[in-house]
Amino acid sequence: MKPTTLSDLRQLKKEKRKFATITAYDASFARLFTEQGINVMLIGDSLGMTVQGFDSTLPVTVEDISYHTRSVRAGSPHAFLIADMPFMSYATPEQSFDNAAVLMRSGANMVKIEGGDWLCDTVRMLAERAVPVCVHMGLMPQSVNVLGGYKVQGRDEASAQKLLNDAIALEKAGAQLLLLECVPTKLAKRITETLEIPVIGIGAGNMTDGQILVMHDALGITAKAPKFAKDFLKETGNIRDAVRLYIEQVESGIYPGQEHSFK
Ligand code: KIV
Repeated sequence: MKPTTLSDLRQLKKEKRKFATITAYDASFARLFTEQGINVMLIGDSLGMTVQGFDSTLPVTVEDISYHTRSVRAGSPHAFLIADMPFMSYATPEQSFDNAAVLMRSGANMVKIEGGDWLCDTVRMLAERAVPVCVHMGLMPQSVNVLGGYKVQGRDEASAQKLLNDAIALEKAGAQLLLLECVPTKLAKRITETLEIPVIGIGAGNMTDGQILVMHDALGITAKAPKFAKDFLKETGNIRDAVRLYIEQVESGIYPGQEHSFK
C-alpha cells in the first residue's frame, strides 16, 4: 500500500474532492479506520478527555502523545499521522524542536500546534528543520481558560478578519495544513478559498477541504456530544459501516449539515 502524503492532500484540494479524517489513539482502531478508507489520522490531545477521563486537554504530556502515536503507527503503517503537541510543549521554539522530534520519531508525519500569528517563527523554524506543521485555529481547546469555555470563534467581523490574516501569515511562514475548529461556515469557506494549503474543519461547516471528528463523537460514545458531532453508529449499528458512512457523507458534502454548523 502506498503511504499517504501531504501532496495527496494538496491534490485533493486542487481537484475539489473532500476528504474525511478522524482521531485515533490505538492500533486496533487505526487498522479499522484504514481498512474502511481513512488515510489521515490525528493523535489528538483530546485523548486527555476521551481516553484519560480528564475534563480538558491540559494534563496531556508529550510522552502520552508519543505512546499513542506509536500505537496508531503500529496499526496503520501507511496512513498520514498528525500528532498533537500538547499544552506548553511548544512555548518556545527550542522546546518545540525537542518535542516535535520525539513525536516524529514515534511515527508522526506532521505535528499540530494551536495558535495564531504568534506561531509564525515556530512554524518557520520547524518547517526548515523538516517537521511539517498543521496549525489549529478558531476554538483552541488548550486555551480554554483564556477563551472562557468551548465557544464558537470568529463571529464578529474583526475577529473573523484576524483569523483570516493569521491563517495567511501562517501559510506564508510554512504551515502545510490548517485545522479550523468551531467557526462560522462562511468564515471557514473564506479561509479555505484564500489558502493554498488544505483546510480541515471540525464544527466549521461543509465548505472546508476536509473534515475531522473525534472518534468517540463519531461513534456516539461521548457523554455530552458537541453540536457539530454526529453519531454514525446509531444509523448503521456497526462500527465498520459507521466509519464508511462518515467517509461517504463527508465526501458528498452531506455531513456536516446545517444542524452541525454555526452561522
Ligand atoms: O485533539 C483533538 O482531537 C483535536 C480535534 C478537536 C480535532 O484537536
